[in-house]
Amino acid sequence: MFKTILVAIDGSDPGARALDAAIDLAVKYSARLDILHVRMHGRPVEELERMAEVEHIVAHVAPKALPSSLPNASTMADLLAHAEHEARVVSEIADRLLDAARQNAHAAGARDVGIKSAGGDYADAILDTARDKGTDLIVMGRRGLGRVRSMLVGSVSNKVVQEAETAVLLVH
Ligand SMILES: Nc1ncnc2c1ncn2[C@@H]1O[C@H](COP(=O)(O)OP(=O)(O)OP(=O)(O)O)[C@@H](O)[C@H]1O
Ligand SMILES: [Mg+2]
Repeated sequence: MFKTILVAIDGSDPGARALDAAIDLAVKYSARLDILHVRMHGRPVEELERMAEVEHIVAHVAPKALPSSLPNASTMADLLAHAEHEARVVSEIADRLLDAARQNAHAAGARDVGIKSAGGDYADAILDTARDKGTDLIVMGRRGLGRVRSMLVGSVSNKVVQEAETAVLLVH
C-alpha cells in the first residue's frame, strides 16, 4: 500500500519514535524511505538541549562546527555560545541527526533510503518534500522539542495534518 514514506525528525523523543515506526513500515512494505530534517535556526538553547542523545550530538558537532581555537564544547549551550558559528552548528546538527537516522534504517534492513536537510518553515518544508518525492505516507511525532505542553499536537504536526495531500501518521 505505501510505496514512498517520508519521516520528519527534529531530534526529539517523539521524532525518534516516528523514525522507528517509519523504518518498520518501510521494511514491511519494501517502500522507499525519505528522512527529512529542517534546520533549526534561532531556536532556544533549552529546546536543542532536549535533543535525543544530545551528548553524542555535541561530541560529533563540536569539532566540525567550531574552530580549534575555541575551548572544548561539552554542552549544547557551549556549542551555541558563539553566535557567529550558529549556522555551522545548526547545519552540522542536521547532518549528524540524518546520518544516525540513515544508519538506523540500514541496520533495520531498509534498502532504499534517502536523507534531506532543508531550510525554511518546518511544516512547509515537510509538505514541499512530500510533494517532490511523491510521498504517500508522512510519519512524524505528535509533539517535538517544544516546551508548551498545553497543546495536544505541536504546531508543525498540526499544520502538516491540516494541509497534507497524503496520509499522515502521528506517533506519540
Ligand atoms: N525542524 C524539524 N524538522 C523535521 N521535522 C520536524 C521539525 N520540527 C518538528 N518536526 C516534526 O514534527 C513533530 C512534532 O513537532 P512540533 O514541532 O510540531 O511539536 P513541539 O515541538 O512539541 O511544539 P512546537 O514546536 O509547536 O512548540 C516532530 O516529532 C517531528 O516529527
Ligand atoms: Mg517543535
